[in-house]
Amino acid sequence: MDIVTIHNLKKYFGRGARQVKAVDGISLSIEKGKFTAIVGASGSGKTTLLNMMGGLYEPTEGTVIVDGVDLSGLTEEQLTVFRRRKVGFVFQDYNLVPELTIKENILFPLGLDDSQPDEVFFEEIIRALGLRDKLEQYPYMLSGGGQQRAAIARALITKPAVILADEPTGSFDAKTSQNVAGLLKMTTEAFHQTLIMITHNLELAQLADRVIRLQDGRIAV
Ligand SMILES: Nc1ncnc2c1ncn2[C@@H]1O[C@H](COP(=O)(O)OP(=O)(O)O)[C@@H](O)[C@H]1O
Ligand SMILES: [Mg+2]
Repeated sequence: MDIVTIHNLKKYFGRGARQVKAVDGISLSIEKGKFTAIVGASGSGKTTLLNMMGGLYEPTEGTVIVDGVDLSGLTEEQLTVFRRRKVGFVFQDYNLVPELTIKENILFPLGLDDSQPDEVFFEEIIRALGLRDKLEQYPYMLSGGGQQRAAIARALITKPAVILADEPTGSFDAKTSQNVAGLLKMTTEAFHQTLIMITHNLELAQLADRVIRLQDGRIAV
């Protein structure tokens, strides 16, 4: 089953001579439960593509269907709900809330949606990511790798349709990158999550079931 279907997707920024064709006609399907890596040179359109899958950017043209929902048919308000329920974002800079403990950060998306945490699932995530003794700490007390593990837990907790990770290991050394990407792969697999990860690191891309290579806003052959 396909969880994401994209057809002739385009995103152009600016106009006239300064127009940038960031994504320029991409069609693809992503299978549910699989780990897909998106690779390509800086500026090839990876982030723009991912942000359209997550309902963060509105396409110039084309369609994005996630979990059966055509995003172009949604209002701003519906898109906000879509992002909250269907997408787990993992960014390079974690985006944890500094004033909240690690536990509060992980449960934060559920609070936004007024849903109750599944205690058993929470425990499983915490165990898998080795966060047990960090729960009452604040983000600044953790290493970069620790903060990113918390961000992964936060992405998993809502059981989203897709986890979208944009260079989640971009600021780490080689060893930490391997650890964090390995944990991301391991936890998404364990919880049958679909993972789409942008990476510069071809070694990490090899962890994926499938690699999509972008070049100048298109899929490279
Ligand atoms: N908000 C924006 N406004 C104008 N140009 C943008 C914007 N976002 C990205 N671009 C341009 O679109 C192209 C693709 O960018 P991006 O998707 O960020 O690439 P990647 O993530 O592969 O490095 C680049 O030329 C970039 O400068
Ligand atoms: Mg990028």
